[in-house]
Amino acid sequence: MSQFIILDFGSQSTHLIQRRLQDLGYTAEILPSHTTYQEISDKKPKAIIFSGSPSSVYEKDAPNYDTKILNLPLPKLGICYGFQCTAYNLGGTVAASPVREYGECPVTLIHEDPLFQDIDKEFIAWMSHGDSITELPHMFKLLAKSFDHPSAAYCEEFNFWGLQFHPELAHSQNGNTILNNFAQHICKLTPANNTIEQTFQSITKAVKEQVKDNTVLLLVSGGVDSSVAAAVLLKILDPDKLHLMYIDTGLMRKNETGDISAILHQLNAKHVHIIDAKDRFFDALKDVSDPESKRHIIGDMFVTVTMDEVKSLNLPEDFYLAQGTLYTDLIESGKGVGSKAKTIKSHHNVNSPLIVEKRESGKLVEPLKDLYKDNARSLGLYLGLPELLIFRHPFPGPGLGVRVLGAVDPEKCRILQEADAIYIEELHKRDLYSKIWQAFAVFVPIKSVGVAGDVRKYGYTIALRAVCSIDGVSADIYEFEMKDLREISSRITNEVPEVARVVYDISSKPPATIEWE
Ligand code: XMP
Repeated sequence: MSQFIILDFGSQSTHLIQRRLQDLGYTAEILPSHTTYQEISDKKPKAIIFSGSPSSVYEKDAPNYDTKILNLPLPKLGICYGFQCTAYNLGGTVAASPVREYGECPVTLIHEDPLFQDIDKEFIAWMSHGDSITELPHMFKLLAKSFDHPSAAYCEEFNFWGLQFHPELAHSQNGNTILNNFAQHICKLTPANNTIEQTFQSITKAVKEQVKDNTVLLLVSGGVDSSVAAAVLLKILDPDKLHLMYIDTGLMRKNETGDISAILHQLNAKHVHIIDAKDRFFDALKDVSDPESKRHIIGDMFVTVTMDEVKSLNLPEDFYLAQGTLYTDLIESGKGVGSKAKTIKSHHNVNSPLIVEKRESGKLVEPLKDLYKDNARSLGLYLGLPELLIFRHPFPGPGLGVRVLGAVDPEKCRILQEADAIYIEELHKRDLYSKIWQAFAVFVPIKSVGVAGDVRKYGYTIALRAVCSIDGVSADIYEFEMKDLREISSRITNEVPEVARVVYDISSKPPATIEWE
């Protein structure tokens, strides 16, 4: 029985609300927005949270909830759409703004309230600049404002608090304090100690129940997620029954294949299969420049190569397939609990036919599927993986395939690998690597003029990306000292002769994504 029920109206960050509450030591369950009054009251929650949504309240077929729920004698919290929808249901007005995007907003507190206990009068929150409430229903008391619009309000009659901003987003200041205030001071709940050990135990139980003594093949990419998945499965399963397969696509970072092979052996894996499939990937990608087509080609080639290699491994036909999918991979492909969440990018590890087939037959093992990146890292450390590996920056499944913009070939990949290796080496040397959540170089296929010595040079552009984030859902740029950027830039143009120019990407997420494609 969960303490909180979160009604999901389709926001990308619904699962984050659950995650934050769990991290704070509370239990929370996500249910679809159309769950009935009776179903909810039967579950006897201590409070209800109404999530955000990509919809507008006045749109045809906009999601709503059973308004009898408002009569339940429990504290309720509406976040963004959950607030707007409730205000609208109770006679308030909501108006559209022409731009729909997330961004920073200054919030000013107007009235004291237990929801804002121990919080400064002014702080910065993240909100969607989509719709806002222009007129609160008469029974609402305004608690906070942002740009002259209500950003928080309270309605005593229905025991309802509303927030226009998203306290669950890592970039909202005081977000955790607000959620904890709601739980502790308004719902009168006491937080429990929620440990990573419990997370590991519940993963162990779920994996053992699912897999029993069948053979498992884990696809390892070399990133943090699949390495943690490897460590998890190597602890839980009989190493004789666990095969680890790494496919060298040619789209990896410099020296990656050698590094991965060493790591897998350190993890005491018994069956490690390193597959050289570079030519197959480059042939399939020849002259393809559309990002989604590239992702699909890479994903399908993964499946084809995997199937070919699986055949030669002589695994039992009904083997289980495992991978290090995180929750973010699922929501960003529109497959998460937020069923209405819009598809942003296709992630090959979610939609490929082999995965679909294995998922449908219950033979897909995704031990990290409920975790965000930071949980996965904590779990990896807990299992004794080296810090250098755990704090390695995330790397996307399609690898350099989405970092060489447009058509991909071995030469462009090589140039990018060289530039990226210099960039990352410099970050380590300057003690900056651990201060940045994800940093990488992007190959921009635009040539410009430069000079090297006294000779005119006509070379490619390398863009450097460095972001700060907690979970990859939102991100802000890392603010380098100009001296660092200048020196890194000059090392790249000096040491990679094909590069004439280096630029730095200053876009946050949203509106941009972390990867360029
Ligand atoms: P975006 O670019 O969507 O990235 O802001 C968020 C995080 O996800 C990683 N990413 C991927 N990871 N397969 C993956 O396994 C993918 O197709 C993929 N696309 C993006 C990205 O590097 C960042 O950490």
